[in-house]
Amino acid sequence: MSKSRTYINKLAENTGKSVMIKGWVETARDQGKLMFLDFKDMTGVVQGVILPKNTTIKDKENLREGVAVVVEGVVNARPEKNVKKGVLNGDIELEILDILILNTCDPMPMPVDGDTREVNETTRLQYRWLDMRSERMQKNIKNRFKVQKFMRDFLIKEDFIEIETPILSAPTPEGARSYVVPSRIKKGKFYSLPQSPQQYKQMLMVAQFEKYFQFARCMRDEDSRGDRQPEFTQLDLEMSFVDEEEVMEINEKMIIEMVKEVYPQKKIQEIPFPRISYKEAMEKYGSDRPDLRKDKDDKELLSFVWVVDFPMFEKTDSSDNEDKTGEWTFTHNPFSKPKDEYMDALMQKKDVEKIIASQYDIILNGFEIGGGSIRNHKPEAARRTFEIMGYEDQRIKESFGKILDSLKYGAPPHGGIAFGFDRLMMILENEKSIREVIPFSKTSEGIDATMDAPGDIGTKQKKELGL
Ligand code: AMO
Repeated sequence: MSKSRTYINKLAENTGKSVMIKGWVETARDQGKLMFLDFKDMTGVVQGVILPKNTTIKDKENLREGVAVVVEGVVNARPEKNVKKGVLNGDIELEILDILILNTCDPMPMPVDGDTREVNETTRLQYRWLDMRSERMQKNIKNRFKVQKFMRDFLIKEDFIEIETPILSAPTPEGARSYVVPSRIKKGKFYSLPQSPQQYKQMLMVAQFEKYFQFARCMRDEDSRGDRQPEFTQLDLEMSFVDEEEVMEINEKMIIEMVKEVYPQKKIQEIPFPRISYKEAMEKYGSDRPDLRKDKDDKELLSFVWVVDFPMFEKTDSSDNEDKTGEWTFTHNPFSKPKDEYMDALMQKKDVEKIIASQYDIILNGFEIGGGSIRNHKPEAARRTFEIMGYEDQRIKESFGKILDSLKYGAPPHGGIAFGFDRLMMILENEKSIREVIPFSKTSEGIDATMDAPGDIGTKQKKELGL
């Protein structure tokens, strides 16, 4: 077998010629005289046949689903009556001359030829590398890549640059618990995994990059739900010298163009996206993420809405909050700036309940798919937020000293947004859970069943870490 490989989607162009393909057996049907085999590679599927005259292929019984093979054969046009119209390779068949098995395949612990949603979740995630063979999962993961590529290209064209920020860091408050990593070098101390790149992206604005984006991995130690995972991806971006309108406008344009390009069959209910205030959303729909679709059964309908004018502070009421119940806390992001008309109130720490933040959320079909704000770029304004929350000087310095310090060096007015990229993909793919669009997702209990994590570490490592 010395020929070069032909990909399965290029076979039709080689009708009448002898070819060599590489891939896997998808199905095998031995009918005695004839044996039919479907082969698949990353580009598609083709039906092959072993004719009775072919006596060179010996271990036919080992040719079963999942076996990796190299196949030599001749591409034949199918007789008119056997042509399957509208199907890749529906008009050709591969007459198999020789097959070499590259690797065997154990009996499959789960079926992957149908909709694997019917298989138990832990089994699916334990064997995620099999689960992802299914047609639906292949489509979800490939479309995830297409959307990511579209957004990346769009932002690069708009002069954004992609910058990575650290994973081992200090805690950033985004309203959830952080995961921590014990330090070996500084025993008894911990790194925190980022809940978002919020403080770093603001520092990048101080560093004068002006337009930043990143597909950022975020970690939040909170209970999982259909639309929530302990580890997820944000499309995170930040811009300098902009107002709310400018941030919303460019993101709206990106989303509209992405849908047109990657999901041309989908309809966006209203363009430009409607905007409603938080107050109106609560009064009219009893929710700050209203589902405004006119037809909720229409799977191709996308209803985007911006929710704006959020109150900046609310009273804490959760007993598991480390802050005392009943004190002021931020509603979204402690770095948000009040709208201009409420700046005095913030600076004077009065009428706190009335302060409206320059915060915007973007809702799609009833899910919050993103949120952002214009930030307090002046350190004394940023400090006020923490003072209103009842933080002492020492605590402000310890928790936010670094970002506040950076703002002292000509920080420009700036703002941005982060999309929950998995949530966006979940809706675009008509899935009910973000687990269906995350390649190696955790289970609904937050367990990595593929690698069995969290797991134990040895005594030696524990000792080294001072645990
Ligand atoms: P926020 O905390 O609102 O903002 O997060 C932005 C978006 O991320 C998604 N998201 C999640 N997706 C899956 N699993 C989770 N556990 C999870 N938590 C949040 C949501 C949400 O809208 N730094 C700010 C953004 C900014 O102001 O620029 C931030 O992280 O879709």
